This record gives sequence, structure tokens and C-alpha cells, in this order.
Amino acid sequence: MASDLTSDTFLASKKISDEIKADLAVHPEKYTMLTGDRPTGRLHMGHYFGTIRERVALQNAGVTTRIIIADYQVITDRDTTANIADNVHNMVIDYLACGIDPEKTIIFTHSAVPALNQLMLPFLSLVTESELMRNPTVKAEQEASGHALTGLLLSYPVHQACDILFCKGNVVPVGKDQLPHIEQTRQIARRFNERYGHVFPEPHGLLTDAVEIPGLDGRKMSKSYGNAIALSATEEETAKLIKKSQTDSERMITFDKENRPGVSALLTTAALTTGRTEQDIAAEIGNDGAGALKRYVTESVNAYLAPIRERRRELEGQPEMVREILHEGNRRANEIANTTLDEVREAMGMVY
Ligand code: TRP
Repeated sequence: MASDLTSDTFLASKKISDEIKADLAVHPEKYTMLTGDRPTGRLHMGHYFGTIRERVALQNAGVTTRIIIADYQVITDRDTTANIADNVHNMVIDYLACGIDPEKTIIFTHSAVPALNQLMLPFLSLVTESELMRNPTVKAEQEASGHALTGLLLSYPVHQACDILFCKGNVVPVGKDQLPHIEQTRQIARRFNERYGHVFPEPHGLLTDAVEIPGLDGRKMSKSYGNAIALSATEEETAKLIKKSQTDSERMITFDKENRPGVSALLTTAALTTGRTEQDIAAEIGNDGAGALKRYVTESVNAYLAPIRERRRELEGQPEMVREILHEGNRRANEIANTTLDEVREAMGMVY
């Protein structure tokens, strides 16, 4: 399976990703980053350490950066768009609070960029049913959601190819579960170029080396597991979440992911937010037990997130400005998408 960390495909992707990272530092101007998120709720620490931090670094290194708030992707596996406007608004706030600079990075939504969505038609003609059915991430997501395999869920990796290729993105910071989608995007770009002439780059995934921040129970941090600390949570909410996280009856604090997932998740959270190692923190807490560890984690998380949360609060008081930033991002994304769609029509001979 493509997400197996030892598989040839994964290792090949990792090698290319490492080579690109080295080149990025020297030639940032050669790269366009496109990545994004589904607006299904607030961003949490898993998003921050997994990808947001890296997006900010790429932006500041001089890479051309675009972020999509994938609103049409919300309905791939659910039957409602409840709260979507609020989720989108708060996602823009989260990005800005984390250091995304709207002067440098275009933030936009699917639904505001018609020409991006129109790429879906030629792109769908470039993939077969069996290729769509074979995507392991789509299968896993469908099973996890318990939702029917809708046409949109089955074809969303193609829609993601539209997201990446409308702006000629060539690097996509992603987790390993998204690698099959990048492969599908490469295939679509290659087939389009072969059939109609060169229009699109073949993008690569940029895999983060960052240790994955675990959720409070040791599993992957995810809102649906109830183990996530939202960037927008208050200090009190954060304290409460950490306090009720599951540890064990062993008083002595040690780092042992396998046998002590709860305690170890707390130690990793403290390590990431203080820059210390898990072992170092465990040795310091020693026999003071889980209560002392939780107090330490709460303090370090709240201290780490304090500047982000302060900026968040300021932005919450300026909803008009936040809306204006999204409108401007949508306007710029439309310009790019219209130009690309013109090139596509031209390549396909559809100029009348
Ligand atoms: N599917 C991605 C996620 O859930 C979000 C996304 C939408 C995306 N379009 C994209 C990621 C294009 C990378 C490139 O996280």
C-alpha cells in the first residue's frame, strides 16, 4: 500500500522530496506551492506542526505560495454544509494568526473560482474508473466516514489535481496519506501534456520530517477522535482537555510510546512546544506523577500558543478585514485560473 513507510513508492517519494527541499533553499523562485484544508472545523496543533508551520517557512523563503480552503471537498463524505461560512472565516483567521501573509500567499476557496472547477471536465477524461477505484486513501476515508461512495468522493483526487494544476503548483506539502493523490495528479498532468501539448508541470509531494504531534490519547490528532487541541481553544479549555487526558497508574514518568501512549503523547506535546527532549522532561518530572506532567504540558502548550491566540483575538475583532483578505485571494486565484483555462482551451483547439 502506498502509505506503507517502507514501500518502494514511499521511499522514492521521500528521496525526491528531500532533493527538492535542498534545492528549495537555493532556488525558491523555481517553486510554486499549493496545498490546503477542508473547512470542517478549527485548525488544531496537529495541523500546525504537521503542515502550517512548513507553509509559513516556504512562504518566507520566497516560494510562490497558494492555499486552498477546499469547500467543495466538505461534501465528499457528508450531506450538509452547515457552519461552512463560519468554518471558512475561522480558517482564514487561523492561517493569518499562524503567520500566513496575504501579501505573499493567496488564500482562496473552490466555490469562488469557476475556472478551476472547469478543469475537472478534461481531467476526468484522463483517468479510468479502475484507477479511481484503486486509490487507497479514498477507500480508507470512505470506510472511516461510513458514508456512501459518492461520485464526488471517488473523484475528489481529480478535483485536487485541478487545485494543484490551475496555478501550476509543482510542490505540495502533504502527509503520506495524500501521496496517492499526488501520483494521480502527476498522471493527469502527463496525460494532458502528451495528448494536447505541454501546459502543466508534474508536481511532487513535500513530506515533512517533523515528528507527528500525537493526540492526547496517543493516536493521530484528529477532531473526530476528540483528542485535539484547537489553536482557537482558550487557555482554560486547553487545561481542561489536558487534565482529562488518559494516563496510567504508574507514578514514575517515563517515555515509552508502545506501553504508555497517554503519558508519552503528553511528553511529545511538551517536547514540541518547549524544544526539549521527551527524556529530559520525563527525568525532570520523575516521581511527581501524571498531575505534575499535565501541569507542565498545559503551561508549555499555552505559552507556545499565546502569540498565535493573541493575534487570533485581534483578527476576530476585524471580520471585515478578514473577509476582504479572502475576497482579494479569490480575485487573484480567478485571474490565474482564467489564464490557465485559456491555455487549456487553446491546447485542446477549443477556441471559437
Ligand atoms: N484533501 C486535503 C486534506 O484533507 C485538502 C486539500 C484539498 C488539498 N485540495 C488540496 C491538499 C490540494 C493538497 C493539495 O487535507
